[in-house]
Amino acid sequence: MLGRSNVGKSSLINALVGRKALARTSKQPGKTRDCNVYRIEDQLYLVDLPGYGYARVSHGERRRLGAVIDQVLTGRHQLAGVVWLLDVRRDPSAADLAMGERLAKHGVPVLVAATKGDKVGRGRRKDRLNDILKVVDLPSDQAVMTSAHSGEGIKELQDAILALTDEEGAR
Ligand code: GTP
Ligand code: MG
Repeated sequence: MLGRSNVGKSSLINALVGRKALARTSKQPGKTRDCNVYRIEDQLYLVDLPGYGYARVSHGERRRLGAVIDQVLTGRHQLAGVVWLLDVRRDPSAADLAMGERLAKHGVPVLVAATKGDKVGRGRRKDRLNDILKVVDLPSDQAVMTSAHSGEGIKELQDAILALTDEEGAR
């Protein structure tokens, strides 16, 4: 689970596993400072990565967090893919675009989870998602609109993650 600080990674993990407080969430960005790993029913591991792009951390801490993310993206042959969270209300930031380039460079399979869908009117959600996908240059069959609060898209994202890990198992 990869995304800028405060995008909703920990909340989405809780929604995916149907638990209220497995992963620690916070209104303050920068809550998750390490890489927390959750084992899901003997089938897969979900990794809650620290958020990137949070301005209010020291230079050294930002480098450390970047290294944690890099290690997960590049150093693990068991990585089935990345769920890349993008806030549906925001245009992708410079940090998002830099991350997108890193994902493409490493050839990591990516699923986009647009987060906080409940914050945008039903009629605008799809347009917002399409605009975001255009900017990050990914196709709509690799994207799911989600809301950890309303439960929108959670089943669809679960299925997409399982499909990714099945492919990984078959490789
Ligand atoms: P870091 O660990 O700091 O990188 O943040 P995170 O990406 O893990 O975000 P977290 O899950 O802690 O959520 C950040 C804030 O967004 C909290 O106030 C959540 O309640 C809120 N939030 C998360 N998901 C949703 C959602 O689907 N809808 C709404 N409305 N708010 C959400
Ligand atoms: Mg978090």
